[in-house]
Amino acid sequence: MSYIEMRGVTKIFNKGKSNEVAALRGVDLYIEKGESVAVMGVSGSGKSTLLNIMGTLDIPTEGSYTVDGVDVFAMSSAEKAKFRNEKIGFALQDFGLLDTETAEYNIRLPLYFTQSKVKDAKRIVKEIAEKLGIAELLKRRITQLSGGQKQRVAIARALICDPQLILADEPTSALDRTTANEIVGLLLGLQKEGKTVIMVTHDAALAARFDRTLKISDGIIM
Ligand SMILES: Nc1ncnc2c1ncn2[C@@H]1O[C@H](COP(=O)(O)OP(=O)(O)OP(=O)(O)O)[C@@H](O)[C@H]1O
Ligand SMILES: [Mg+2]
Repeated sequence: MSYIEMRGVTKIFNKGKSNEVAALRGVDLYIEKGESVAVMGVSGSGKSTLLNIMGTLDIPTEGSYTVDGVDVFAMSSAEKAKFRNEKIGFALQDFGLLDTETAEYNIRLPLYFTQSKVKDAKRIVKEIAEKLGIAELLKRRITQLSGGQKQRVAIARALICDPQLILADEPTSALDRTTANEIVGLLLGLQKEGKTVIMVTHDAALAARFDRTLKISDGIIM
């Protein structure tokens, strides 16, 4: 059994209405633990929809999905939220940070939903920030950071609960090439620690650094 298994996953937005869109049309997908996978496809082909479903942020219209043998679609919303917080780290295109708060506050945010003690939280934030080269930036507000620094903060936040699965949706599209390459280097470094890394990108050169590329076209994996 593969770490990630999707079978017949379909997502239809506005089903039965005049503005119905079939964003995913029967996706079968198998990803092994510790693999790095790039997802490519033209705008509107269903990449974000796929990632959101993988990350349990969205539910499909049909199909099955297991992670580590666990049936994700069978979970209650509370179970899903717990699963997401513990197992999955998200890195998004627009970073999804609270701009008026500090880097430290943002990175630490997911820990407020867990049992971690304040002392532990401070130490964990510091460790992750050092690893990502942003330790000196912790007290700065997000508005005072560059794009590359913001993405590092976002990745630090994604890693704070030590997730097994990293889902990144165009995390480098707002960054210059050098910074984009550094961010991909960071993500692939996580793979070396045994994490499974899945990243959506429009950049073939970045995709080439992953173990393999999934091409998606009009809601179907090619
Ligand atoms: N919430 C929604 N309601 C209705 N339609 C949606 C919704 N989200 C996405 N879609 C549609 O589903 C299709 C797939 O969208 P998706 O965001 O997955 O594309 P994408 O491959 O990530 O594109 P991009 O490269 O532009 O980010 C598109 O036709 C989009 O308009
Ligand atoms: Mg998208």
